[in-house]
Amino acid sequence: MRKNIVAGNWKMNNDLAQTESLISELKNQQKTSNAEVMIAPTFTNLWHASEALKNSEIEVAAQNMHFAESGAYTGEVSAEMLQSVGVKTVILGHSERRAYFNETDDLLAKKVDAALKNNMRIIFCFGEELADRKANNHETVVGNQIKNALFHLENSAFKNIVLAYEPVWAIGTGETASPEQAQDMHAFIRQTLANKYGQETANAMSILYGGSVKPANAKEIFSKPDVDGGLIGGAALKAQDFFAIVNAF
Ligand code: 13P
Repeated sequence: MRKNIVAGNWKMNNDLAQTESLISELKNQQKTSNAEVMIAPTFTNLWHASEALKNSEIEVAAQNMHFAESGAYTGEVSAEMLQSVGVKTVILGHSERRAYFNETDDLLAKKVDAALKNNMRIIFCFGEELADRKANNHETVVGNQIKNALFHLENSAFKNIVLAYEPVWAIGTGETASPEQAQDMHAFIRQTLANKYGQETANAMSILYGGSVKPANAKEIFSKPDVDGGLIGGAALKAQDFFAIVNAF
């Protein structure tokens, strides 16, 4: 079902002590909106986070996972392992994973399958680079990222998928897509899904925007009809800023 969601991607920030302190600050914030709230700390802090946030309004997600169940994959973490520490949602396809860790559409398709097989919810990320936008190629790039990693799925799989459009040029740069650019792309994404899976499935999808969302710009971005929330990087590391964004709905 389509919901408003605000998820904080902590990336490679916060050791255990910092995680403990940010979580206790988050628990003291007042949520006044209907948005679902999630945070994605690093692997080492997922167990602490899921224990500390049990019975709270904040869900814990992982930033990545491997597609295999177990085995000789040094340094990797499986869906089963995430589930075993209470994590039921995983971010896949973040542009930093694609750019720095060579994650391809084919690899992501395998990760998507593994997460769904384990009944996990996926926040699936994609987005064009600046050169793609300048060449007016952004819709083609984003359309292909979605098709290549997700269009082998059955219609019913999409109830466990949240989409996150994150234009690479807006991540960590302070430069956001304008609300109109976000809306145009989100409408294109929804139409792409509708063409393949039908309007009902497309209308039920939550499509988040990510890329320099801050308390000052969240309200305007979230006011667009096809923007169902945000995936927040830098501003998710400050409890007050993060909740100002959550409460922008
Ligand atoms: P910033 O909000 O820091 O631009 O990061 C966005 C992001 O990459 C969230 O996944």
